[in-house]
Amino acid sequence: MSALFRTPVTFDVGAVRAEFPILARQVNGRPLTYLDSAASAQKPRAVIEAMVGAMEGSYANVHRGLHTLANETTEAYEAARRAVAGLLNAGSVEEIVFTRGATEAINLVAHSFGSLLQPGDEIVLSELEHHANLVPWHMLRERWGVVLRHVPVLDDGALDMAAYHALLGPKTKLVALTHMSNVTGTITDARAIAAAAHAVGAKVLFDGCQAVVHEVVDVQAIDADFYVFSGHKLYGPTGIGALYGKAELLAQMPPWQGGGEMIANVSLDAVTYAEPPHRFEAGTPPILEAIGLGAAIHWLQGQDRAAIAAHEHALYQRALDGLAGQNWLRVIGTAPGKGSILSFTVEGAHAHDVAQILDRYGIAVRAGTHCAEPLMQRFGVTSSARASFALYNTLDEADRFAESLIKSKSFFSR
Ligand SMILES: Cc1ncc(COP(=O)(O)O)c(C=O)c1O
Repeated sequence: MSALFRTPVTFDVGAVRAEFPILARQVNGRPLTYLDSAASAQKPRAVIEAMVGAMEGSYANVHRGLHTLANETTEAYEAARRAVAGLLNAGSVEEIVFTRGATEAINLVAHSFGSLLQPGDEIVLSELEHHANLVPWHMLRERWGVVLRHVPVLDDGALDMAAYHALLGPKTKLVALTHMSNVTGTITDARAIAAAAHAVGAKVLFDGCQAVVHEVVDVQAIDADFYVFSGHKLYGPTGIGALYGKAELLAQMPPWQGGGEMIANVSLDAVTYAEPPHRFEAGTPPILEAIGLGAAIHWLQGQDRAAIAAHEHALYQRALDGLAGQNWLRVIGTAPGKGSILSFTVEGAHAHDVAQILDRYGIAVRAGTHCAEPLMQRFGVTSSARASFALYNTLDEADRFAESLIKSKSFFSR
């Protein structure tokens, strides 16, 4: 466990809700029940105020100026990097690269680390992955001739670890897997995955978009080579995310985008590149967004993360209990220890229609493929609806969701 989480305070959902201004609003004449946090989470006042405060009080471009505002903004931006390093328990702050989000972070690794691979080298992915952790590797396959192998998913949504071990071999150069599925809520055994990958000499990347929100992540304990996440799911702003990369790996990797900030020297004949992390941050970075992410991390670290995890689990269980015995409901993803994401299909109703009817009750759920088409195919569905629970949801909201879904079903059965 990271040192940042050793002195927890008590978790109080009412107090937490009061910090999220948007939760006070009504939707279709009902109190908003926001169950779409896996797609993007709402923002606490601490994040809103940090961003507004920067714009009102101290803002300039970073790293280039010798004036007070430039120095203050650079310090705030680099403080956000330290916050990310603390969140993940990175070994050093230079191991944190800011990106626009998880998608860009994975694309960075696919371009840069990917350029060090040879045609025929193998990358192990899985059926559980979000398109963000599939498409960049497809593009590398098309460009570079690497071979993609996929770990199958068991009926409960867990990764088939026996199949994973069987896929690993001397040609495996990278394993890139989710730490928590955005569809099934499955939490993968990151330590075991990394240990097995390292045993064959492969590097390992985790897509931590969902896990970082619900788990205390320690990249050193996992022994991850790369770890990525997006700020907007972590109660921070859009347009910012991070890549953790082990220092010795980042040092070997070439830049993937060129421009200001990422160079050491440029002449008309030659260019030399900056050391990581700046080597991978071409152009003016998302400064305000980084400051907002830093605020989100500090805010989250002020909460009791173990209590949040217990609360989120209780919400998930309460919704399931409320739906018990409904034989028209199919839950996708029941792996032991899974996170608080409830994906489901309703017999005789399209997921889009389910989401639209729930919206009439003020309940926001997501419907579609969740950017995980191979996983939809694995479960033999074209789409599903998804209720995802966050720290600000209440047991009453879980009840309202279950009751409204049952009412919606009677609407579809007419
Ligand atoms: C597991 C997972 N990976 C990757 C992504 C992509 O994140 P972003 O769109 O913020 O880059 C998401 C977003 O839904 C996700 O849930």
